Amino acid sequence: MKFFVDTADIAEIRALAELGMVDGVTTNPSLVAKSGRKMAEVIAEICSVVAGPVSAEVTATDSQGMLREGRFLARIAPNVAVKVPLTVDGLRACRELSGEGTAVNVTLCFSAAQALLAAKAGAAFISPFVGRLDDVGQEGMDLIAEIVAIYANYPNFRTEVLVASVRHPIHVVQAAKLGAHVATLPPGVLRALFNHPLTDKGLAAFLADWARTNQTIA
Ligand code: G3P
Repeated sequence: MKFFVDTADIAEIRALAELGMVDGVTTNPSLVAKSGRKMAEVIAEICSVVAGPVSAEVTATDSQGMLREGRFLARIAPNVAVKVPLTVDGLRACRELSGEGTAVNVTLCFSAAQALLAAKAGAAFISPFVGRLDDVGQEGMDLIAEIVAIYANYPNFRTEVLVASVRHPIHVVQAAKLGAHVATLPPGVLRALFNHPLTDKGLAAFLADWARTNQTIA
């Protein structure tokens, strides 16, 4: 499963990319606003740090505006994936941009029916928001299971399931168990994957025992 990082914080992206664990990046208007930087500037810098797909989201709501903004974003770097919302206009723009060879990430997906439409529109990625479904009492990972099962019935679909709105490591493990192609992780969740108290405890015990030997390896 590919790990994307869900942030526009370039310092976080650089730090995590050095671990070799970052296969791409997703941003959205809220994350770019939080960065305090101009969209084109921060996306260009992210694309220079991470070679994989970097999602940059349009903010127009009409298809012509999405096409104009999407083409602008796609020109920033070859690895830009243009993000459009799962609306009629968004899927209209998705079909056009995909036809031009631009990778499109269809975002704000909350149902299997929506995901089916995105695949038919030629999306490169579909972003179901599992955390936000959990937040309203629905089982977000059930949606991932549905979409993965539906897409498996149609080998001609080339849309990758990109699990988004990830809140904790269990979402990541569940997504991997279900065979999702990608999970996009807030930096804190990616870091949390490394941690287990028994690892820390076991390492401390090893080093304490080693210290008593008064030897070094090299
Ligand atoms: O960036 C897309 C998605 O991962 C954001 O989800 O719920 O953390 O805002 P959320």
